[in-house]
Amino acid sequence: MYSFILIAHSMIRWIVLVSGLIAVFLAFAGWFGKNDWIKTNDRLGAVYVVFLDLNVLLGLILYLFLSPITQAAFSNFGAAMGDSLLRFFAVEHIFGMLVALVLAHVGRALSKKATETVKKHRATAIWYTLSLLVILATIPWDRPFLRLG
Ligand code: HEM
Repeated sequence: MYSFILIAHSMIRWIVLVSGLIAVFLAFAGWFGKNDWIKTNDRLGAVYVVFLDLNVLLGLILYLFLSPITQAAFSNFGAAMGDSLLRFFAVEHIFGMLVALVLAHVGRALSKKATETVKKHRATAIWYTLSLLVILATIPWDRPFLRLG
């Protein structure tokens, strides 16, 4: 169960990153190129937010129940703050990802609410960029890029 969820958590990161980057690229192109807001814009945003939600859910399952790293941190939280690996997963990773989740949802809500196409593109471009930057900053890049087992 632990390794299955860890593999899924690791792989879904790529769906989040690729869909987010394309959504941001198209949003900037749409904003400055004054392009229409098309179904592709909306679908890419939906893929980004849905897979981000899913990975946050898997992350919370790892965090609360399965990860030996967070279990070790919870056994002595004060001491864990002095250990960079334990502190990263017990505090920095979860905090960054929850901030990224809020930023992504704000962007999606604002782009849905906007009636003018330029505002839809602008909300997507700005809020998804902020969200992606926080994700990029709080992903553990020293872990495997493709965890297959
Ligand atoms: C509240 C949200 C999240 C929580 C609580 C969380 C929790 C965790 C935990 C506890 C681990 C370490 C598991 C272990 O090795 O025992 C981990 C690893 C990881 N997390 Fe998250 N996570 C969250 C969101 C995300 C998101 C949104 C992404 C990417 C989009 C992400 C990417 C990763 C990656 C790449 C790893 C390393 C996986 C590996 O070792 O192959 N996490 N996460």
